[in-house]
Amino acid sequence: MKILAIESSCDETSIAILDDTKVLSNVISSQYFHTQYGGVIPELASRAHLKSIAPIFFQSLEEAQITIEKIDAIAVTNQPGLLGSLIVGTNFAKGIALKYNLPIIPINHIEGHLYSGFIEDDSLQFPLISLVVSGGHTALFKVNSFTNYEIIGLTRDDAAGEAFDKIAKSLNLGYPGGPIIDKLAKIGNPNKYTFPRSMINSGDFDFSFSGLKTSFKTFISKNFPNGFNQEEIQDLAASVQSAIVDVLTFKSIQAAKQFKIKNIIVAGGVSANSQLKSEMQKVAHNLGMKAVFPSLKLSMDNAAMIGFLATKKIQEKGTSNFFDFTFTASANSLRSRKKT
Ligand code: KG4
Ligand code: ZN
Repeated sequence: MKILAIESSCDETSIAILDDTKVLSNVISSQYFHTQYGGVIPELASRAHLKSIAPIFFQSLEEAQITIEKIDAIAVTNQPGLLGSLIVGTNFAKGIALKYNLPIIPINHIEGHLYSGFIEDDSLQFPLISLVVSGGHTALFKVNSFTNYEIIGLTRDDAAGEAFDKIAKSLNLGYPGGPIIDKLAKIGNPNKYTFPRSMINSGDFDFSFSGLKTSFKTFISKNFPNGFNQEEIQDLAASVQSAIVDVLTFKSIQAAKQFKIKNIIVAGGVSANSQLKSEMQKVAHNLGMKAVFPSLKLSMDNAAMIGFLATKKIQEKGTSNFFDFTFTASANSLRSRKKT
């Protein structure tokens, strides 16, 4: 079964081709121009998707060395995300599916991230804990199968990536802030300053990062009224990153302990954070657990994870259930502890 998958929920246009769960191509085009605005501008994002989606479609087919006539199904992210961006991807997907009379599988972007660890590691076993941590989401899931999971924890305010981005902005470091803080932190002293590990002792699996952002801003305006030198920026980056990483690691490990689970998947843009990866893997290893971090191209927004989950859905339900073209794009985010 050859699947062509499309992802355009935020500022990455991506088209992947999979042969069942094997990724044949996974072309990703990132809209770097948003950097100059300090954040993603939705209207510009959808225009950029519109411009790049057709060339990426052809590039993806070429890299997979396949023609469109050989594709058996189309998968597309239809939620959550920026509405205008999602509409570009879903309409493109519907156009191809209608023209070639193919089934179409709408996929939830977060669910795509949730299972992305399986693409490179098929030894993972259910149930597992999945931490999805990005610019828009911070959520912990207990994942029972490819079609059944529970949200066990959510951020009550900002996402962890959003905290990285806002903190970087207050240090005038540019956007997106996560990778910049990560790089600076490598040479900084994480114990130089102490920032709150919000909700670490809350006894549940929820998160909160807006208090950290506020306390960081207050701290720098009080202690560095005349700006900071390079060493101070590195120490601030390392200290604030540690506060975020400690909470993400502690809660994920607590969840695994509570549910007696051995495997943890960490996905979404923030999973690229080097300290998060080393700390989580170290703690997990010491407890006889395994923490899987997908490689960069599968942890950022990408279509391969969308195609992978579509394959799993087809394997369970067959293709005949996927000829409903009335589904729409939806900006809806994770708000409730729903079960699917
Ligand atoms: O999943 P993603 O590509 O897009 C969505 O938000 O859905 O995640 C982007 C987020 C940004 O907030 C960015 O600052 C953060 O991931 N990020 C990082 C790192 N690389 C990207 N945060 C911390 N450390 C990193 N190395
Ligand atoms: Zn994402």
